[in-house]
Amino acid sequence: MRLKHLISPLDLTVDAVDDIIDLGLKIMENPEKYAHICEGKKLATLFYEPSTRTRLSFEAAMLNLGGQVLGFSSADSSSATKGESVADTIRVISSYADICAMRHPKEGAPMVASLYSSIPIINAGDGGHNHPTQTLTDLITIKKLMGRLNDITIGMCGDLKFGRTVHSLINALVRYKQIRFVLISPKELMIPDYLRKDVLEAGNIRHIETDDLESFLPIVDILYMTRVQRERFFNEEDYIRLKDSFILDAAKMQLAKEDMFVMHPLPRVNEIASEVDNDPRAVYFQQAKMGVYVRMALIMHLLALDTIPIS
Ligand code: NCD
Repeated sequence: MRLKHLISPLDLTVDAVDDIIDLGLKIMENPEKYAHICEGKKLATLFYEPSTRTRLSFEAAMLNLGGQVLGFSSADSSSATKGESVADTIRVISSYADICAMRHPKEGAPMVASLYSSIPIINAGDGGHNHPTQTLTDLITIKKLMGRLNDITIGMCGDLKFGRTVHSLINALVRYKQIRFVLISPKELMIPDYLRKDVLEAGNIRHIETDDLESFLPIVDILYMTRVQRERFFNEEDYIRLKDSFILDAAKMQLAKEDMFVMHPLPRVNEIASEVDNDPRAVYFQQAKMGVYVRMALIMHLLALDTIPIS
């Protein structure tokens, strides 16, 4: 069987994404059925960059499947500080574990790892580039709440330049029908040129780029808020000037549709006032929970355990 990795959201066909989402929803309904499927298997989590949700949700996912986890949660506690390359690290880890989730501040590092690995590599976020498992989390949440992944107007607001979750989600959503994007950001934090030209314009995808949240809030089905990515700025002054460009509060929520959903990959900084948390349209904590089910489904898929009949 061909070794499969998940480096970009486009590594999975739309059918495979839909299957993983459906499996994730099945697991959610009946988690105990899947509690032993990964017995004897190990997941390595190699996190060269900080993370709370992504790392712990991967670990929770493997433990829920009956497997075990090992790994490190910062570059400082790995041999990277001694100058070891990602290629060498993964050659070794390949003999310690059955599957690996890797987060790295450098774009492309998980892809390099996949070239030297004999176990499946999952990109758990590479620099400002991609974050395919957050995308699966976002898609399963949308599917569960709206029952569909097409005919959606999605507002994406905040740091669209450095936000890898935004980049991956745009790439994934354009493969569905009738998706319309409202891209809300300060001028300095608009989507990268390659996304505008090679993905949105080339695919003839309806989109608007604006810095006016209030005017477009009434038309969106989903508002995907993101934080300004401080760690990717070259200077702190720019970050301070831009960090509070958009703050969603209860007053602004009154402008939105009654059946609109607010999503956020988390961590939230200031961009959503805590008063919004009690609004039933705020689904970001639910979204984080869905991330565990979809990662369980993904691990099963990459280990080819999703074809085993479960009674
Ligand atoms: C995101 C990330 O790491 O890109 N977080 C996450 O994985 N849930 C979003 C962010 O850090 O802003």
